[in-house]
Amino acid sequence: MPAAGEGQRLGAGLPKQYMPIVDAPMMVHCARALLAAQWIDQLVVVVAPAGAARAEGLFVDWPRVSVRAVGGASRRDSVLAGIESLDAAGDDWVLVHDAARPGLPLAALDALRDAAMGDPVGALLALPVADTIKRADDGSPARSGGTIDRTRLWLAQTPQMFRLGMLRDALRACPEATDEAAAIEAAGHRPRLVPGHRDNFKVTTPGDLAAMAAVLGARGGSRRVGGA
Ligand code: CTP
Ligand code: MG
Repeated sequence: MPAAGEGQRLGAGLPKQYMPIVDAPMMVHCARALLAAQWIDQLVVVVAPAGAARAEGLFVDWPRVSVRAVGGASRRDSVLAGIESLDAAGDDWVLVHDAARPGLPLAALDALRDAAMGDPVGALLALPVADTIKRADDGSPARSGGTIDRTRLWLAQTPQMFRLGMLRDALRACPEATDEAAAIEAAGHRPRLVPGHRDNFKVTTPGDLAAMAAVLGARGGSRRVGGA
């Protein structure tokens, strides 16, 4: 779980993964969502060196969680450093999940596993685009310069699930990747697209934070699955 960003677009004065939502910091909700899947053996939380003590304090007595202060300058750098720190085999499966998607439902996680494990490449959660897509011209204020066919467009989410060796090699070769699937695609592969869930949106802006608080609050707080 890459959790080494600064949350600049949220602009809270605190990296967003540490922001409280309902009853816990955002990254704790993300960890609960992942560890609700008993088939996940270990969760490595990748933080910035400056965030190590705070993050370790959040995951005391979570036996499946380890915090590694190997975060880098970009999301790709943080993910690659985390993968390189894993004690695992090249054909083990690894999932990468943003520390900014606390709304991940267990059913979507299980669907991702089922699709990825039956696939030679792997899979990611994503949502088919429902809205009409406009391309802005280069003016200011922006004006619509055209409409893009949305028929085959999907919005990528996380988790994204690949075999460790393939993902590590793909990320090493693709410094510009903004998600794991982009690196896998650049290596010539075609990851499966698995329908995700609307609650699994990424908290990016203050409005997203309020919307996520409503989602998690309506669930009555997320079930505690960390700890002993
Ligand atoms: N991330 C990371 N290391 C970085 C940048 C991002 O581990 N150098 C992580 C974030 O902590 C987050 C995920 O990647 O869990 C998705 O990134 P994003 O939503 O862009 O988060 P931030 O980079 O923190 O936010 P912003 O771009 O608004 O600064
Ligand atoms: Mg970012």
